[in-house]
Amino acid sequence: MIDQIAQDIHRQGWSYQQNVVDKSRLATMAPMFEAEFSPAGVGSEKQRVEEIRGDWIKWLDPLHPPGALEQEIEFLRDLQNEFNQRFYLGLQDFECHLAKYPPGSFYKKHVDRLAKDSSRSISFIFYLHQEWNEADGGELVLYNKDDEIIKSILPLPGSMIIFLSEDFPHEVKVCSRERRSLTGWMHTKILT
Ligand code: OGA
Ligand code: MN
Repeated sequence: MIDQIAQDIHRQGWSYQQNVVDKSRLATMAPMFEAEFSPAGVGSEKQRVEEIRGDWIKWLDPLHPPGALEQEIEFLRDLQNEFNQRFYLGLQDFECHLAKYPPGSFYKKHVDRLAKDSSRSISFIFYLHQEWNEADGGELVLYNKDDEIIKSILPLPGSMIIFLSEDFPHEVKVCSRERRSLTGWMHTKILT
């Protein structure tokens, strides 16, 4: 799978993979989402702006991940090494958080690379809810730099998307079921 992802990134700048996390492990992860989450903020000042994003998040320490996520964190390390070897991206670290979008929430179109901090290079999202149907919405829509839609992705349970943070504005369409994910970014600097 790592090889396929690297090929996709090289060819088109993004990769979508299904069945990355199997059903039984999604069930193991469910209790993590019952813990306390904080309202997500916007930009480096982390202001709460519900007209822009309505998700709730919980930051994780990648060095001490919850046991249920150890495989994913290891996979991300392997992926980061592969990107460095193949593309000389100079990735040094990653950050990640759990996110849940309550029914009725969304995240308006944005770019992940922050204006004040350009070290965010690769964005990744694992979809960790146990069920998802077309009627639940919540699609991730990727745009190119000309604001044309490239791909609309239904967040299927256990699937994952990874893309170059700078190149793809994106949005999360309104969902009608609680939408759960592990979301994060690989950086070209060590995070403290
Ligand atoms: C984000 C984001 C997309 C998704 O958290 O920055 O764009 O599909 N998430 O959850
Ligand atoms: Mn984003």
